[in-house]
Amino acid sequence: MKRVKIIGAGSIGNHLSNACRNIGWKVDLCDSDSDALERTKKLIYPSRYGKWDNEISLFNMNNVPRGCYDIIFIGTPPDTHVGLALKSISEKPKAICIEKPVCEPDLKNLSNLIDKLRKNKILSFVGYDHVVGDAAQFASKIAKRLKLKDIQYIEIEIKEHWEGIFNAHPWLDGPSDSYLGFYKRGGGACSEHSHGINLLQHFASLVGAGKISKVSAIHSYVKTKSLNYDKISSLNVITEKGLNCRIFQDVVTKPTSKRMKIVTNDGFIEWLCNYKKDIDMVSWKQKKIINKKEFKKTRADDFINEVKHLKNVIRKKSLSPISLERGADTMMVISAAHKSSLLNKYVTINYKKGYKLTSIS
Ligand SMILES: NC(=O)c1ccc[n+]([C@@H]2O[C@H](COP(=O)([O-])OP(=O)(O)OC[C@H]3O[C@@H](n4cnc5c(N)ncnc54)[C@H](O)[C@@H]3O)[C@@H](O)[C@H]2O)c1
Repeated sequence: MKRVKIIGAGSIGNHLSNACRNIGWKVDLCDSDSDALERTKKLIYPSRYGKWDNEISLFNMNNVPRGCYDIIFIGTPPDTHVGLALKSISEKPKAICIEKPVCEPDLKNLSNLIDKLRKNKILSFVGYDHVVGDAAQFASKIAKRLKLKDIQYIEIEIKEHWEGIFNAHPWLDGPSDSYLGFYKRGGGACSEHSHGINLLQHFASLVGAGKISKVSAIHSYVKTKSLNYDKISSLNVITEKGLNCRIFQDVVTKPTSKRMKIVTNDGFIEWLCNYKKDIDMVSWKQKKIINKKEFKKTRADDFINEVKHLKNVIRKKSLSPISLERGADTMMVISAAHKSSLLNKYVTINYKKGYKLTSIS
């Protein structure tokens, strides 16, 4: 049995605790705020999963054990991720899994974190759970099996009003009460819904199109005395192999629409998330026939799949689409997108120069 520490007893901390317990792992859940620990036990966990699980141990950050964990999950706001991950390295876990987005768009200390994790031989991941869901994994298999030729473009949209997030956080007064209302802290549509950028990177890499190399973004920013975030993030990007792609992410659309489509000259593969309640779907065209496959799942399953994936890749030491390196590439695109939109210019990404942006044209 694995023993895990989960830092942050908020929304994601509860999802991850439930998922880890589901596969029999021992969970120590900790937070710097004693109200959050109280809320977890009395409100969040019982309302989501039926009742509190006495096998989960709750700790304040001041008295949580150190140095005895297989995996440390970091489920706190984005502007605390890198600092907490750097502190966790000295605990020598087998793996660290940081929530998305990995950090703030200024990419501060990201290169340093990745260097230190490599030197200490600690496996590292990012919680982009969509990409390891059953439907996205099936779409990946189909994309490989069809050996797609003449891909015209890939487009993806993660359009979701953030009232769902605030319904899950009744203790918050709104976006100004959290990182969500501040793009520089890792909030706003481009960062919060960066599952879209991450999925595109996964599928582009899978079909041999390479990494995203050029970004042209138009963001709609909301800037008031108490807020500064992008409510709509619209990106046109080109990959290293010249594939043209589009990513649209927003926090204003109701009902939610999350989809990805790879379009070839005579066919397509499409991923639809929650196209009906608790059902994802993949459809694809092969030899002029359109096929469809449904995948039943609950919200809790999204995270159970994620921790099962981690269990497998840690055991086999295999490659993962939710590696920290891929999550850091997602951060490069987020950072480039803000720069592009604010300067009204294309931004070119050079991955060889480490995690910083290199050229604006
Ligand atoms: N993968 C997903 O689908 C998914 C879903 C929800 C949230 N998230 C991500 O998880 C992260 C947290 O989001 P959330 O909705 O759970 O936030 P939240 O506000 O519900 O919870 C965050 C918790 O972290 C605690 N915290 C803050 N700083 C801390 C510190 N330095 N040390 C210890 N505890 C600290 C807070 O007290 C709070 O209880 C974000 O990056 C978010 O994008 C991902």
